[in-house]
Amino acid sequence: MVARRDLSPKRLWLRKSSAAATCPPIVDILRYAPEGTCPCEREVGGCFLGWGQLSAQGMDGVLITFEGGEACGKSTQVTRLERRLVGLGRKVIAVHEPGFTEIGLSIRHLLLHPKEGQTIRPETELLLFAASRAQLVAEVIRPALEGGTTVISDRFIDSTTVYQGYGRGLDLKFIEALNQFVVRGCRPRRTIFLDLDIETARKRQMRRVRPVGPSDRMEQLPNDFFETVRCGYLDIASREPERFKIVDASPPVDEVERMVWAELEDIFR
Ligand code: TMP
Repeated sequence: MVARRDLSPKRLWLRKSSAAATCPPIVDILRYAPEGTCPCEREVGGCFLGWGQLSAQGMDGVLITFEGGEACGKSTQVTRLERRLVGLGRKVIAVHEPGFTEIGLSIRHLLLHPKEGQTIRPETELLLFAASRAQLVAEVIRPALEGGTTVISDRFIDSTTVYQGYGRGLDLKFIEALNQFVVRGCRPRRTIFLDLDIETARKRQMRRVRPVGPSDRMEQLPNDFFETVRCGYLDIASREPERFKIVDASPPVDEVERMVWAELEDIFR
């Protein structure tokens, strides 16, 4: 039998807490944390309590997220949904990732417009996207949901799963754990995936009128990358059909808007 004081905070917490058994993300975070660097018991306990409180209170607001590849029309559909919900008398805020907060915007710039010749490691990329999200959740999304506001987010956790997990080939289990750690219970009630084939997306990108500069670092990735990203989204859709809805993004915007609403209407009735 190992003495209590000989256990690292990580092992001690795992042994003590039956909550760990019902909270796989925390176990994952701890499993991945190198010995001696894991969060202390109090922090881990606090993190878990945070999630419990959120689900117990059931937060009055609803989080809806939009996902998709490049030029699939997310921002147009986010704006249209926002307008519709305001028309229905809802309190609504639309956010986007990475960015929106001041810190998030600096991270966005680092990620999408690095200095010429600067190479960003996939691991760095993953952590920067997660950092931007952590800030957005804490500063904006959580307080809004707690205050009964509907939050529409242009990209959220699934982007990290498919771009950094499927696309960059980083460990999907670790990404799931990181996502959980960052959002701490603020999970999307429903996600609209605007599905567009790569060829059409590329044509739309060429037609885009850009306010500034050339395409960003991610947009310059090869078509193979975006094929993998799309497969990732389709995989999530097959695993989580209740939450993750596929909408064909190739028809005219009014038609896409109608299809998006058909997938969300029941939540706002
Ligand atoms: P945007 O063009 O929709 O503003 O998104 C910025 C880019 O960042 C887009 O290429 C998708 C990518 N991205 C990731 O790779 N991982 C993430 O977690 C997020 C939020 C975005």
